[in-house]
Amino acid sequence: MQNFTFYNPTRILFGAGRIADIAKELPTNARVLITYGGGSILKNGTLDEVKAALKDVTVYEFSGIEPNPTYETLMQAVELARRERIDFLLAVGGGSVLDGTKFLAAAIPFSGDPWDILAKRAKVSSALPFGCVLTLSATGSEMNNGAVITKRASDDKLAFAHRLLFPRFSVLDPTKTYTLPPRQVANGVVDTFVHITEQYLTFPVDAKVQDRFAEGLLLTLIEDGPKALQEPQNYDVRANLMWTATLALNGLIGAGVPNDWATHMLGHELTALHGLDHAQTLAIILPAMLQVRREEKRAKLLQYAERVWGLNAADDDARIDLAIEHTRLFFESLGVPTRLSAYGIGKEAIPALLSQLERHGMVALGEQGSFTLEGSRKVFERAE
Ligand code: NZQ
Ligand code: ZN
Repeated sequence: MQNFTFYNPTRILFGAGRIADIAKELPTNARVLITYGGGSILKNGTLDEVKAALKDVTVYEFSGIEPNPTYETLMQAVELARRERIDFLLAVGGGSVLDGTKFLAAAIPFSGDPWDILAKRAKVSSALPFGCVLTLSATGSEMNNGAVITKRASDDKLAFAHRLLFPRFSVLDPTKTYTLPPRQVANGVVDTFVHITEQYLTFPVDAKVQDRFAEGLLLTLIEDGPKALQEPQNYDVRANLMWTATLALNGLIGAGVPNDWATHMLGHELTALHGLDHAQTLAIILPAMLQVRREEKRAKLLQYAERVWGLNAADDDARIDLAIEHTRLFFESLGVPTRLSAYGIGKEAIPALLSQLERHGMVALGEQGSFTLEGSRKVFERAE
């Protein structure tokens, strides 16, 4: 096992009805800005529930944080928060609202252009505290300190993380996900799946707990992912998926093991240039990525084939092929296409994707730092 530092201070309020408990988590006399997206929380009653829980608290609202949240939109919230002397943020939504709110937390006290936090790695020395009410389980943003923000003006989709950007608390109420459209349910399963593979399908370091934990999370997705689509109001299924997504990216399974994340980096460029959902990009890239890098990932691919998919073919290469094919078919079975062509993207799009990766310095990716632009080209070509 590799050396690691593990730190995660987020308090989790899990279960139906837990929104009622959020007032207790706020500092006294807080001036709260509730942040949300395009309105799903208005339609399904979640906003009313949050406001009822905060009836004795001073609250403001900022809506319109879009999927793949943009700097342009978020800067309007920065202005509002500064003007109204907001001192606590409450994100109510999916990963985009949570990520956008993390950006706000860092941007509101920042002097200078907050985009520098992402583009120039400018130092963040303070951040507003914030909490979350999660309505879509996928990203793990509810219990980590990372965020991904898009600048529309320059087609940049960049990630950042900071130790001050863990949520103070997150409400994980599985019933809040009942109103998700099937596409978002499927996206959530795929995103969670790929978060796990980014930290598991690398090379062995004899980290038994991390491996078994990752395999347990993958098996839960394979078991309950399809059920969530068939039975949208099955509480236990939603609860299992929600907790799986949180555990997949709260630092636990990635501690002490090599981390890859190349699939995510290629995926971000597909979203930046072609507007695909985050999970759609991962469904396209992962199977191709595993094929292109099957030699460096050989030992873990064999372990994955055996322990996750129960494959026992005598020939190792056949087992790896089957495991990758099972992965691709699992995504397809959830209704998430796994080829660029299915989204109307042809091979003429590849050079621009590669220049984006180059411009963003994504030229030595992966657990070994050896995955170059040439590798990315092969992955995009294989994903056609
Ligand atoms: O905007 P509203 O109206 O709320 O609708 C949203 C949005 O259209 C809708 N939705 C959310 N909860 C709902 C609901 N509709 C009905 N009922 C509900 N309960 O779902 C749509 C998608 O929401 P979004 O937040 O964009 O989805 P997701 O949670 O998948 O977040 C994706 C974003 O997270 C980033 C991605 O890059 C992308 O920008 N990621 C963040 C990570 C992190 N912070 O650790 C890691 C991930 O790898 C990922 O990169
Ligand atoms: Zn992801």
